[in-house]
Amino acid sequence: MSGIGILGFGAYTPSRVMTNEDWSQYVDTSDEWITSRTGIKTRRIAAAEETTVDLAEQAALAALADAGVATEEIDELIVATDTPEVYMPDTAAFLQHRLGLREVPAYDLGGSGCAGFVLALDLARSRALSENATVLVVGVEMLSRLMDWSDRNTCVLFGDGAGAAVIGARAGAAEILACVAGTDGSQTGILQRETGGTKKPFSKELAESGEFLKIDFNGRSVFKEAVRRMTASAVAVLEKAGHQLSEVDLVIPHQANLRIIQAVTKSLGLQPETVFSNVEKLGNTGSASVPLALVDARECGSLHSGDLVLMTAFGAGFHWASALIRF
Ligand code: ACO
Repeated sequence: MSGIGILGFGAYTPSRVMTNEDWSQYVDTSDEWITSRTGIKTRRIAAAEETTVDLAEQAALAALADAGVATEEIDELIVATDTPEVYMPDTAAFLQHRLGLREVPAYDLGGSGCAGFVLALDLARSRALSENATVLVVGVEMLSRLMDWSDRNTCVLFGDGAGAAVIGARAGAAEILACVAGTDGSQTGILQRETGGTKKPFSKELAESGEFLKIDFNGRSVFKEAVRRMTASAVAVLEKAGHQLSEVDLVIPHQANLRIIQAVTKSLGLQPETVFSNVEKLGNTGSASVPLALVDARECGSLHSGDLVLMTAFGAGFHWASALIRF
């Protein structure tokens, strides 16, 4: 065991609540369709004046306060996001300055979709171990700003938010017992945003085509891969840590879709009450979804001291990651 753990965690969601009925004013959809396919009822939408760093800052401050760690004690910053403040430099640079951190290494983990936060947690644990560092990890997403509001296939799925955790060595911290992660790059085509990169740079033609915010995905393939990979990586992380599934008190899966969560629950043979979900109220918040769920689990009394907690996530890439934590 490494002795590295989560010292504290926190989250932030914008105040505007958007319901399924609200969406039906923008696209041809219904509460019935969205609820039956995804389990989502509401999501949060950032205010016009808010940007990614504003959300990240609030979550980071909440995590620092929860950990009882001052900004000057942070030795490294990792921001997991696919909806950055600007294209370059990374969101972490803006956040380092905003929080008034020392001139520490700060970098983004981008492009790994909704697996970002758990991947960053794995990385932070290694850095905390090798550098004796206290690492601030943030998962933040403002998908409402970078999606096509006229594409009913995608717009209803997402929400905005941020979650953060402080990782380091301290007696009594929620110890990260093991992490696993993996990538299957043969599946890049099932979930991607092609525009803006070297393959399809921004251009006047692209803007006129209305496709520059398009997220391409094959929902059924994503569904299948998500269930397969989350199930396998949950089993792998337990094996790595020498624990059994029957010992797990709480599972915090990526909140993409209630039906995916139910399928993972079934494929692992878990009781539904062991698996936490808040997708109904927040939708899919990408890299922010796991820490947002963790905060909600604590607030609603589902997370107790001593619990063995399994986090599992998947995202574009296709990437997946799981972590086992003793709270
Ligand atoms: N409202 C009403 N109808 C809709 C909507 C909508 N918001 N969106 C799509 N439809 C229509 C489609 O146009 C299609 O109509 P057609 O048959 O006339 O062509 C019909 O509904 C069925 O569409 P399907 O894609 O077959 O619907 P499906 O049952 O597969 O559900 C969903 C779609 C919810 C996206 C599902 O595939 C899924 O859960 N996928 C996995 C999650 C996912 O992909 N999330 C986004 C990626 S981000 C991530 O999680 C990492």
